[in-house]
Amino acid sequence: MKTSKFPDGFLWGTATSAHQVEGGNTNNDWWAWEQVPGHIKNGDTSAIACDWWRGEKYREDFDLARALNQNAHRLSVEWSRIEPREDEWSAEAFAFYRHVLSALRERGMIPLVTLHHFTNPLWLRAQGAWETEAVVPRFERFVTRVVQELGDLCDFWVTINEPIIMIMPTYILGEWVPGKKDFGLAMRVLRNVLRAHAVAYHAIHRVQPHARVGLAHNLLPFNPANPRSALNRLAVRAQDFIYNRMFLLALKDGVLRFPLGLGERVPEAVGTQDYIGLNFYFSRRLALDWSQPGMLFARTLPAHPWGVPYDDELLEWFGKGDIDPEAFYRTVKWLAEYAPGVPIYITENGVCDRNDEVRPRYLIAYLTALHRAIQEGAPVKGYFHWTLVDNFEWSEGYSLQFGLIANDLATQTRTLKPSATLYAQIARENAITESMSQCANEPNGQ
Ligand code: BGC
Repeated sequence: MKTSKFPDGFLWGTATSAHQVEGGNTNNDWWAWEQVPGHIKNGDTSAIACDWWRGEKYREDFDLARALNQNAHRLSVEWSRIEPREDEWSAEAFAFYRHVLSALRERGMIPLVTLHHFTNPLWLRAQGAWETEAVVPRFERFVTRVVQELGDLCDFWVTINEPIIMIMPTYILGEWVPGKKDFGLAMRVLRNVLRAHAVAYHAIHRVQPHARVGLAHNLLPFNPANPRSALNRLAVRAQDFIYNRMFLLALKDGVLRFPLGLGERVPEAVGTQDYIGLNFYFSRRLALDWSQPGMLFARTLPAHPWGVPYDDELLEWFGKGDIDPEAFYRTVKWLAEYAPGVPIYITENGVCDRNDEVRPRYLIAYLTALHRAIQEGAPVKGYFHWTLVDNFEWSEGYSLQFGLIANDLATQTRTLKPSATLYAQIARENAITESMSQCANEPNGQ
């Protein structure tokens, strides 16, 4: 393999989210959810997480990121800190985020700020959160205020993280707050997410005309377990449309296709992506299963091994899908066709792998696939690995570890994993070289 060079000015970063790293976010609906036994694996809670808030550990983490040649970082601001009660604004929270963003800029790293990453203030949850259209003006007011306060430090925004994940584990599977199983309600939530994104997009541009604004989409290619079965192929097409396409299509032409709507129009959503953010982890094989009407009669088949035996952690996660660099390549190419010329950023990609057995190979394989898509014309401008430091992984607590850097929770001591160094080499060279690929194929990337 020869050297694969990435375009000049490519962003190499990592991604985090407020609730997963800050600690002490006790005023949002996730915190309340974490307090109920059984909701989070091993009874974990976000507690102090990576101690960014109280201990200001973000400084040390950004030092590490900089030393690892990262030139960008994606993080989120926590709505419940900034607006602890409706229409009351916390000077302390704004001061904190000013310090955080300044710390990135002082280290020469470009901030990409997510305005909503899963958590909601308790007062908003009490109003029904995203279930009612009232969230749209509430989100617009919040976003406007954030951009007014922080806009001198950041002009690169993700309005909402993963619209589809805001409904799947929450309103379809019932495993995340608010723990409901109601497809109709899920579609209503998704319509409100679309409208809220659209008003936020326009609000940001009113305050900051030159801003770059987009969404981070979680896309997930589906494959039929039995490609010869027409019914299986049909189930796959239905899931693919709901998961991957209907929201993106609505952003393109403003039409709410069934089941998102009945053809209603949301013209304000058209053209509200200055770039496309892609969060990509795996693909999924679906088998027909008549006992699962809620999942459109389909069941996920456990992942097939990717060259290595899976330990419990990998099995847990890849019970949900297959490591599939080829599907990543195809998805990036599809996005490039979906919106010709619109820049693409990989806003998340990673793997939970405490012992770093798979991650070095994963990195090389996914980045090689990305490079191929770029060579073929996909306008990809940056890549944010999920994640910088092992952190609070939602209902999985601390049992799944996605970090390039390990964190000892009790002592808050950080330790680099081998793939942190590999990623640093890639970022430094702005390329994948032959020796990196060879190295990644050795056990533990040593
Ligand atoms: C989410 C992250 C999460 C990651 C790994 C993404 O869907 O945006 O918050 O930690 O997946 O599960």
